[in-house]
Amino acid sequence: MQLLLSQKEKSLVDDTMSTESPQNILENLTTAVLTFNSKLELTAINPAGEMMFEVSANKVVGQRLADLLPQSQRLIDALNQTLVSRHPFTSRGLQLALPGARTITVDCTVSPLTNSSKSAGLLVELTQIDRLLRLARDENMLDRQAANRAVIRGLAHEIKNPLGGLRGAAQLLERELTNKGLSEYTRIIIHEADRLQNLLDRMVGPYRPMKKQAVNIHAILEHVRRLVLVEVPVGLSIERDYDPSLPEFIGDPDQLIQAVLNIVRNSVQAMDNQGVIHLRTQIERQFTIGSKRHRLVLRTEIEDNGPGIPEEIREQIFYPMVTGRADGTGLGLSIAQDIIAKHGGLIECRSKPKQTVFTIYLPLENGHG
Ligand SMILES: Nc1ncnc2c1ncn2[C@@H]1O[C@H](COP(=O)(O)OP(=O)(O)OP(=O)(O)O)[C@@H](O)[C@H]1O
Ligand SMILES: [Mg+2]
Repeated sequence: MQLLLSQKEKSLVDDTMSTESPQNILENLTTAVLTFNSKLELTAINPAGEMMFEVSANKVVGQRLADLLPQSQRLIDALNQTLVSRHPFTSRGLQLALPGARTITVDCTVSPLTNSSKSAGLLVELTQIDRLLRLARDENMLDRQAANRAVIRGLAHEIKNPLGGLRGAAQLLERELTNKGLSEYTRIIIHEADRLQNLLDRMVGPYRPMKKQAVNIHAILEHVRRLVLVEVPVGLSIERDYDPSLPEFIGDPDQLIQAVLNIVRNSVQAMDNQGVIHLRTQIERQFTIGSKRHRLVLRTEIEDNGPGIPEEIREQIFYPMVTGRADGTGLGLSIAQDIIAKHGGLIECRSKPKQTVFTIYLPLENGHG
């Protein structure tokens, strides 16, 4: 007899079939999960744990906790105690000294494993909280920037109309002038109105709707590279380190070129046309942007060896009208951040003398694109 299922029943069956295995769940957790045997030797570590410790499971499984974290005696003592007492405990804000002189702050929960065997070990869960703080900051930053941009856009819009009126009136006046000596003044009005108009166009410019299509990030970077090398033919070199396996994604190529160009031009200006720029691409897994976690994110780095961003403005460079240059309008990075945000992404920056790095993160499975 043939079994006929309704659409709803079919989808229920499909859901049951695709129920995640415990292994799969463990692999996708953002919490680092480690298990130890009764001798405090590592018996398992999930991918989030590998990422936190920057190790591969193959290399560290079997190692003693004391070798894995030689400088975290507090944690070792606590785990030894739990082995004896069999009482779970949670410690918040624990400082962990990791291999490679890195220190991170974690919330740590230790539970005795209730295995049937006599010498059951421990389950350790670690959540990195300094990273969470950074994420919260990203989210605040994106919100604040969106609010700022809305104000700027509104203001620019309000100024544009009367400015058009002023320019038109100056043109009419010029035509009516019998004393041609006075037309120098009307020309100044028209010229300055055009300058303001340009500025306002840049402020509202990227707010046109996106023209989406499949985009190859390397085509974008190569386009920018060629443009800049034509503008600055000597003294500047642009090195590339691309991951050729990166997939295409959906985006607006013109706007993305604009965003990258704004960042690269800043580097060229900061280096006074002399220096080296590195363009790098790479894939990043399980990465959170704002409050959204993405399975795959495209990471593009633009690094220069110029003087670095002046300290006084380092925290504000993504805000509109913040500039460190006498002839700068302070719009380039705010426009770039806006374009990348519209693609669901984020730009970050770190800078010190001789090394400034702008990192663009773009989600690959983009629902935004
Ligand atoms: N790679 C860099 N090295 C040093 N300083 C930088 C770098 N990138 C940006 N800056 C600093 O950040 C400021 C803001 O950059 P942004 O592109 O937003 O505006 P701008 O370049 O001043 O003007 P605009 O791009 O609108 O012409 C710059 O004026 C500069 O002081
Ligand atoms: Mg700029």
